[in-house]
Amino acid sequence: MTNTIILIGFMGAGKTTVGQQLAKETKQQFLDLDDEFVKETGTSIKSFMADNGEKAFRTMETKVLEDRLQNSGVISTGGGIVESDINREIIAKSDATVIFLQADLATVISRLATDTERPLLRQLSMKQLMDRWALREPLYSSLADSTIQTNGKRPEKIVQEVIKLFSPDNALVSLRSEIDSLDHQIVNLISERLTVVKEIADVKKDTGLSVVQHGRMDQMRSELKKEFRDDENVSDILIDEIVDLLTSTSINHENKMFG
Ligand code: S3P
Repeated sequence: MTNTIILIGFMGAGKTTVGQQLAKETKQQFLDLDDEFVKETGTSIKSFMADNGEKAFRTMETKVLEDRLQNSGVISTGGGIVESDINREIIAKSDATVIFLQADLATVISRLATDTERPLLRQLSMKQLMDRWALREPLYSSLADSTIQTNGKRPEKIVQEVIKLFSPDNALVSLRSEIDSLDHQIVNLISERLTVVKEIADVKKDTGLSVVQHGRMDQMRSELKKEFRDDENVSDILIDEIVDLLTSTSINHENKMFG
């Protein structure tokens, strides 16, 4: 498992509960940035905001984030952490894996119906809360390495989904998609190569040169073998096979053109 996991998402998405259980399950340290804020300032978020306002809260929140990111483990963040450009930059630059716990607004509202500790929940009208939601959702998504839907799921299930993200199965899926993408690039390059082959054939046709020029192909083979001499993935035999394939497809292509 990676060193640090940062959980992001709206208030009531389950970041703290999931973070605690995830840390326990994976035997890592757990930090809740809202709790760290309280430790740092010696006051509750509710009274800090009442005394100093949200802007001052955000400035302090950035300091706490920056400082606590020195630790490894599971870190749950406050729902508004993504509103600040600086915070997003700090998170994006860190080595942590960022997981967005996504819930419907309706689910969040019903989960927090009896909450009295979250000042914004008390202060904001429903319209303002929905505006915050609309502002934050794309920010959470763009910052996250992975997103997990939490609607109707018990925390244990969400924890298992997070763990699965780091399992070898998952690594295999990601590695396979990497290799598939390389294969696509290789075929695209071959197609590009054949376009150039066609241009060469046109020139040869005009100047009456022969299709196959063995000297040039042998020269290319030895240049490639020299270049990849220290690359343990690429043997001389592999270079011969690749050059054979490339030249035979080209010759067929050219011959077709000469008719
Ligand atoms: C906030 C969310 C809270 C806390 C503060 C502000 C927000 O954290 O940081 O009250 O702006 O959404 P939770 O997301 O843990 O509720």
